Amino acid sequence: MTRNPLFNANRMKLGIFGTNGKGGAQTLVPEAYKPTWPASVQTAQMADAAGFEAIVAYARWKSYIPGRPNHPSGIVMDPFTWAAGIAQATSYSAVFATSHAPTIHPITCAKQCATIDIISNGRFGLNVVGGWNKHELEMFGAPMKEHDARYDHLAEWLEVMERMWREDEEFDFDGEFYKVVRGASFPKPIQQPRPPIMNAGGSPRGLRFACEHADMCFVILKSDDPAVIRKQIDEYKVTAREQFGREVQVWTYCPVVQRDTRREAEDYLNYYAVEMEDSESLDAWSAGLGAQTQILDPSALREFRKRFAAGAGGNILVGTADDIANQLHTFADAGLDGVLCTWVDFIDGLNRLIRDVLPILESRGLRQPFGAQQPAAMAANS
Ligand SMILES: Cc1cc2nc3c(=O)[nH]c(=O)nc-3n(C[C@H](O)[C@H](O)[C@H](O)COP(=O)(O)O)c2cc1C
Repeated sequence: MTRNPLFNANRMKLGIFGTNGKGGAQTLVPEAYKPTWPASVQTAQMADAAGFEAIVAYARWKSYIPGRPNHPSGIVMDPFTWAAGIAQATSYSAVFATSHAPTIHPITCAKQCATIDIISNGRFGLNVVGGWNKHELEMFGAPMKEHDARYDHLAEWLEVMERMWREDEEFDFDGEFYKVVRGASFPKPIQQPRPPIMNAGGSPRGLRFACEHADMCFVILKSDDPAVIRKQIDEYKVTAREQFGREVQVWTYCPVVQRDTRREAEDYLNYYAVEMEDSESLDAWSAGLGAQTQILDPSALREFRKRFAAGAGGNILVGTADDIANQLHTFADAGLDGVLCTWVDFIDGLNRLIRDVLPILESRGLRQPFGAQQPAAMAANS
């Protein structure tokens, strides 16, 4: 996995999340990001040129608002074909697609992943998710599975893919969800034994799944208190180490609101995430997460409304460049390995963060200045 920048030595890794759709914000402001292809490429190339470690596409097959299929929450490009295009348009960052198990057969998915790994020259990653949006999964013609059974399904789905990536000889597989007859898949992914896997399980079953199978565990941090954050991160790292003999990274995602003064940043956050919240979207989102996941308890779902509006529930990084660097520094000291960022306006936000925050992180030794010394830069597409 050495070509993949996910495994570089930076203490605080960075990425962007959700630009194949509207990103994380649930707001009605007109400047909110629109998922066009030029915007996808521009934001990916900005992140790539600045040495961000990850560009992550999410999987959404249908709006989560019943009867509103054309709501922005449902306008999301297919993460695999999107990731293939982004892989060709970039040269350093890892490029992730996301998938649920019931939406794609693992033989098809294994080959798509291997192909994007080849296009990207060993920079692909796969975010595997249990899912929560009942409306989209039922569209595939089967009831959504009970919560923990989704992870059993996901584990078997991943097992089939790993064998497709690994086995040189034909093999049979006879599982609870899949049967494979004389299975084989070529070409293999460049990354062996497999491309890195990410998972965002937050329930006890989800945590176990992530610690057993993922290289990057994604968490919604339940607090801004560093002691609580450390405890939450340790739970993943210790479970992975002690129960599965594995080392895992722990990442989170954050909406970022950076301005020249703290007051300006807080005012803008209040404007887009409170005054201009997309209430219809937030109500449906909270109801869906509350019913289908155990990622947050019901009181936190109410308390986190502003976080959901600001950027899908991540801790909000708000203030000046120094404030944002301080918050990222606190996360790194608590053991967090990386943060995927989202903005209302990704291009403006990336410009500000790259210009003002990256140099501070570098001066504190949290990131190396991006340059030729990064091994993955030399593995660029030619
Ligand atoms: C960073 C992050 C990314 C996620 N991406 C997706 C996604 O692309 N599609 C999706 O349906 N669910 C996504 N989810 C939600 C998961 O499917 C799942 O519902 C959530 O992690 C709840 O975990 P639990 O099942 O352990 O309660 C994401 C969650 C997080 C924290």
